[in-house]
Amino acid sequence: MSITALRNTTRSPGLPPALVEALKAIVGEKGWSDDAMTLEPHLKDWVGYAQGSTPLMVMPKNTDEVAAVVKACAAAGVPVVPQGGNTGSVAGGVPHGEVLLSLKRMNRIREVDAADYTMTVEAGVILAEVQVAALEAGRFFPLSIGSEGSCTIGGNVSTNAGGTAVLRFGNMRDLVLGLEVVLPDGRIWNGLRRLRKDNTGYALKHLFMGAEGTLGVVTAIVLRLFPKPLEVATAFVAIRDLDASIELLALLRAATGDALSSIEVLPRIGIDIAMQFDPEVGDPLEGKHEWYAIVEVSGTKADGQTNATLEAALADAMEQGIVLDAAIAASTAQAKAIWRIRKALVLNLAKVGAEVKHDVSVPVSKQPDFVRRATAAVEKTVPGTRTVAYGHFGDGNIHFNLAAPEGMDAPSFMARAADLHRAVYDIAAEYGGSFAAEHGVGIVKLDEMARYRSEVELDLMRGFKTLLDPKGLFNPGKVLP
Ligand code: LAC
Ligand code: ZN
Repeated sequence: MSITALRNTTRSPGLPPALVEALKAIVGEKGWSDDAMTLEPHLKDWVGYAQGSTPLMVMPKNTDEVAAVVKACAAAGVPVVPQGGNTGSVAGGVPHGEVLLSLKRMNRIREVDAADYTMTVEAGVILAEVQVAALEAGRFFPLSIGSEGSCTIGGNVSTNAGGTAVLRFGNMRDLVLGLEVVLPDGRIWNGLRRLRKDNTGYALKHLFMGAEGTLGVVTAIVLRLFPKPLEVATAFVAIRDLDASIELLALLRAATGDALSSIEVLPRIGIDIAMQFDPEVGDPLEGKHEWYAIVEVSGTKADGQTNATLEAALADAMEQGIVLDAAIAASTAQAKAIWRIRKALVLNLAKVGAEVKHDVSVPVSKQPDFVRRATAAVEKTVPGTRTVAYGHFGDGNIHFNLAAPEGMDAPSFMARAADLHRAVYDIAAEYGGSFAAEHGVGIVKLDEMARYRSEVELDLMRGFKTLLDPKGLFNPGKVLP
């Protein structure tokens, strides 16, 4: 079969021909595609929530081109969906007939300023490349998430990504000093200030972080950098029970001078799943335990003190009965092997059976109670459901994921998804929690936005949307119910 035979022959259906020609002229020959094979990975999300479509993908290579594309679409009344690495968990970046605006060619690191502890990057730079560029300048960019090899920094900003180091460094919005944004009418807002202090009225940048591309498109970012960690101590520990995770958190924060960068809790079933589907994963501990934690401490001196401090703290935790057993990584390879357990769980959980996912947050200290109550509620709703609760216990974010009971077929389990969601989110709400901690809303949590967010909040959000995007042309159908 020739390449042409695979091409989508229905060229840009639904778009005015004059707009198609204008967009192609703006971005040039390498800046667009309507080829079915090229588009395919951009039209579905990795979880499997959406199969979308687009008449045309444009890939501008600079901010002026983005602005010109947006202006042309606005003039024609044609909606646009911005997309980064398309690694989101709520299908927020998948188009459904809109023009797809991919930022992947805007991948320049404009400047690294070590003295200012800042870096200015374009939206399409891959997160892992940002991390490497910071290290090369003797600095550190702390955002760390599973998709870091393929997600883009602009997507991280637009979704306010979280990850495994939020406890110490905050969410993405805490790592951003300035933004450049193309607004839905095509105007460019240059807010690329690299200031730590700037009290000049409303904090406009925060509106675009977590907006999931509904208020405009982020084209460049000034990032905050940190001192480079020269010694990282990692351990895999078995904890007495879930309450012990909160005790361990406090003990480690105190013992390390608050240098604890991660505390990730995993259940035994999670270790079993990781080992079942990834032959390279092994259990670092001998006995079996109900709950585990991966802990990581990072220090800016390479004098062995970080490792020594973690070892002493874990010995103390064992004496107090908080920790039952522990393995401290003696090399970078061993640290990687520990983190691989968690990664293997995330990548393979869906293979266990049909999966119903929840990305909730509650106050840190309420996590054990939440997990116990939600597990009981799920068992009552669909007996035999396999609960796999894991997550970022340092910041209160639990991935409360559910696999179908053994022997139950996928459609029967998925038919109960709404009841399971309701049971879990109602309990999170009782603790003042959130139904969307770090993955956002996208198309997946519109019902929950309507149910759990107040009329006042939704009114304000709709007000901002109307102000910035009165024609509703930016990522329509996402975020706001
Ligand atoms: C993680 C993703 C699922 O924590 O948020 O690995
Ligand atoms: Zn997560």
